[in-house]
Amino acid sequence: MDAIVLLKEDHKTVEKLFKQFEQAGPDAHRTKQKIVAQVVEELTAHTYIEETIFYPAARAGAPDTTGHILESVEEEEKDWFPQVRRSMGRNRLQELGEEMAEAKGEAPRDPLGIPSASS
Ligand SMILES: [Fe+2]
Repeated sequence: MDAIVLLKEDHKTVEKLFKQFEQAGPDAHRTKQKIVAQVVEELTAHTYIEETIFYPAARAGAPDTTGHILESVEEEEKDWFPQVRRSMGRNRLQELGEEMAEAKGEAPRDPLGIPSASS
């Protein structure tokens, strides 16, 4: 799987969970708790593969695209991902995506388990 497609799918998964949360209604405490726990797990694994694999690879493979600070996930998807795609090319992104998919299976699900949480 393509690295950028993988990251975008993660984003979609989290958006879906947010919608479920909104639709759960004011009294569905247990449901909401479960959804929040899922969001935390998803984002933790996502952040982990981004920080340990995707960002370093993009810094190396698309160095002139990484000078600005990303303000939001939307900016990441709309501005940065297309630039990275142009610079890195399909084959490299495929390779990277496979590496990320594998790493995701073993990624921490607890936010304190990711390197940036303790720095
Ligand atoms: Fe992301």
